[in-house]
Amino acid sequence: MDLSREEEKLLNSDDPTLAKCMEILVALGEIFEADRLIPVTSAHVSGISYGNIGEEGLEWLKGFRAKVKVRTTLNPAGMDLDRWREMGISEEFFRKQMEVLEALKRIGAELTLTCTPYYINRPSFGEHVAWAESSAVVYANSVLGARTNRESGISALASAIIGKTPRYGLHVKENRAPTILVRVRGDLDPSYVGYVVGGEVEGIPIFEFERRLSDDEMKQLGASLASTGNVAMFHVKDQTPEWDDFEIPREKMEVDGRDIGDECDPDLVALGCPHLSEREIIFIADIVERLGRPKREMWLFTSRHVWFRLKGLIERLERRGIRVFRDTCMVVSPATERFDCVLVNSGKALTYLPKLRGVRAMFAPTRECVRRAFE
Ligand code: F3S
Repeated sequence: MDLSREEEKLLNSDDPTLAKCMEILVALGEIFEADRLIPVTSAHVSGISYGNIGEEGLEWLKGFRAKVKVRTTLNPAGMDLDRWREMGISEEFFRKQMEVLEALKRIGAELTLTCTPYYINRPSFGEHVAWAESSAVVYANSVLGARTNRESGISALASAIIGKTPRYGLHVKENRAPTILVRVRGDLDPSYVGYVVGGEVEGIPIFEFERRLSDDEMKQLGASLASTGNVAMFHVKDQTPEWDDFEIPREKMEVDGRDIGDECDPDLVALGCPHLSEREIIFIADIVERLGRPKREMWLFTSRHVWFRLKGLIERLERRGIRVFRDTCMVVSPATERFDCVLVNSGKALTYLPKLRGVRAMFAPTRECVRRAFE
């Protein structure tokens, strides 16, 4: 990979943070045969929960001296920063989590604590960014037409500090071509479709749905795809911005309905993976309006940004006994571990809740999840 003189200097810098970050980007570029580094306009860093990074990660972050060079947003933490006690989070976890956030704030990252950074900082078509968090990566590439590879928390942080990323993979137009056509028969839930297809395809699917999808449905489709597979981009015929820039691939598959997830009696209904948008909260509130108070525990997750924009509505939901947490989610927070069976509308939560929180997870579309909370 070619490096400019200035980049060479950073690689040999006396500042160990700058040198380390350059080393990470150069190593990545060499593995993937990038030709050079290109500037990015933003970075989104994952692995923020103390539960994920642990003591070693915290010490590494505390040693950082350099500041971020581009706008840097952060993924959810392991708790709601204000309501951690109510979530059953221990004092010790709270303290450690706050140390992680302090270290990140010190280097200039914004404490957005959400996996939907695109509601706060929406990259334009063709913009190069370095984002971690697979669901945000797939949304940025597919729905917005921005360009990012599926970064790790560490490589996204290195890009945040240097302001660049190696040019390979999805930063290059020809690598964004679809590789398989997926026909979806009937009105299947997009989360379900993503869950099934992610486990079966490599590369970039182009979907043919029988109806138009909303942005929220494409968010769900992408998050599920990226959780059961390695997918970082998809196209939807007649909808996503780059779908007709390429030939339709000859390889095809069809998706139809089948059972996924566990069959159990949910003691928690958890919605908001990825974090709920304003529209999704309004949709849920609308159904809840006709149903009264939930009979099962019902938790919603969103960003602090959306929470404050819908404060009045959220407070009304809270008065009905529905908890609307921010800064965290059912997967990254240990709070979910005290439940036995969690009902979700997300293929991503369905994939990770059993693996990371050791609980059973059951799947249903959003409307059905809400209805079950009141039965
Ligand atoms: Fe977001 Fe947590 Fe799901 S980070 S995508 S809500 S697992």
